[in-house]
Amino acid sequence: MESNVITRSVNERYARAVTTGEEMCCPTGYNHDELRAFIPEPVLKVSYGCGTPVGLTTVQPGETVLDIGSGGGIDCFEASRRVGANGRVIGLDMTDEMLALARTHAPAVAGNLGYARSNVEFRKGQAEAMPVDDDSVDLIVSNCVINLSPDKEQVFREMFRVLRPGGRFSISDIVADRALPQYLIHDREKWGDCLSGSLPLHEYWHGLRTAGLLDIHQVNVMPWRVIDGYHFLSVTLTGYKMTWTPPATFAFATLTGPFSSVTDELGRTWQRGVPQPLEPRTSALLQMPRYAELFHLADTPVTFTRDDPRWREVLPEDTACAWHGDFALLTGPLLDVRDDDGHLFSCNAPTEICSKTRKVLEHPLYAPYFGMINRAGAGAGQPAGAAESDACRSSSECC
Ligand SMILES: C[S@@+](CC[C@H](N)C(=O)[O-])C[C@H]1O[C@@H](n2cnc3c(N)ncnc32)[C@H](O)[C@@H]1O
Repeated sequence: MESNVITRSVNERYARAVTTGEEMCCPTGYNHDELRAFIPEPVLKVSYGCGTPVGLTTVQPGETVLDIGSGGGIDCFEASRRVGANGRVIGLDMTDEMLALARTHAPAVAGNLGYARSNVEFRKGQAEAMPVDDDSVDLIVSNCVINLSPDKEQVFREMFRVLRPGGRFSISDIVADRALPQYLIHDREKWGDCLSGSLPLHEYWHGLRTAGLLDIHQVNVMPWRVIDGYHFLSVTLTGYKMTWTPPATFAFATLTGPFSSVTDELGRTWQRGVPQPLEPRTSALLQMPRYAELFHLADTPVTFTRDDPRWREVLPEDTACAWHGDFALLTGPLLDVRDDDGHLFSCNAPTEICSKTRKVLEHPLYAPYFGMINRAGAGAGQPAGAAESDACRSSSECC
């Protein structure tokens, strides 16, 4: 399908949805009671996201937040509350009907929050060519939108452009476990349902990284649907536009574990316990939140052995393997990791795992780096962990 055909059909889909007040069902995790206190019901009714905008919990008063594909405005209004009267929120959407609804309710939200005037501005535009200044945004949020774009790489480049150095993003979206076949990609109806445009997780992540964003990792991964054996997941990813001026300068780093080896996003491979000298970019990267948990940074080389309290490992139990169709997806920020049983998990594809390895990956030290799907027989129609939310049992589609 041509890009303009996709854009037109997505535009029509959401114009129709907001005009009819269609309810769509997705795995979100809002606290509706809390939102109802300041957001009018018509906005809550057209909440078409597919994740919890947890990034908003990191917002500081006075910050500037951009919501890509703001729809009826639910996440913008929550951001408005969190940035306070001196902060700014920009909601960007291409659909006039969505913008009209959001703009109509902005004054009421401002009044409910006790603001003299609304700090939210809804702008019409494309995610692929955002009407937003360079280096001007502290936090980008987006809830179930980028999968709908025919040119996701361009959206990722735009994200990088508008974020200020040190800025961050937190986006929820639908991804697939592998490349979709042409008959799904060319299904116009399923584009609007947030299915046909879903990239494999590793391509999504690669696109963000290629645009220059780093420390990209999951906040949440939730299996959502399986169609013809293709798994669709709702993921919330966060990451940063690096400043490359870290708070401190270190000359050496040592991987503490729990992995026996890892490759970082700049492509360097690390063995647990073995120090390596740092150049400034790697020194900056390893001080980012997710990396800082994995490395010991120092001015001199520090070697660890297993008896060192800083050495971290999760050994498999001494039991037989059982194969149930479980596959593990590495969800960042590392490009690959090796466990203590010799398995290599790569960001490029899900890895089949046995019951013993599943237990290792569910250990609290490993779990933040993985998502799980089940591709076995009957299970192929049921997401691993049966994590599909109760809120999603209706027949209506996402998003
Ligand atoms: C699934 S809805 C999500 C709306 C909102 N984020 C929410 O959580 O309710 C997708 C929204 O993104 C907008 N959208 C889709 N593709 C877009 C694009 N390429 N540029 C700008 N807006 C887009 C649609 O108009 C629609 O309002």
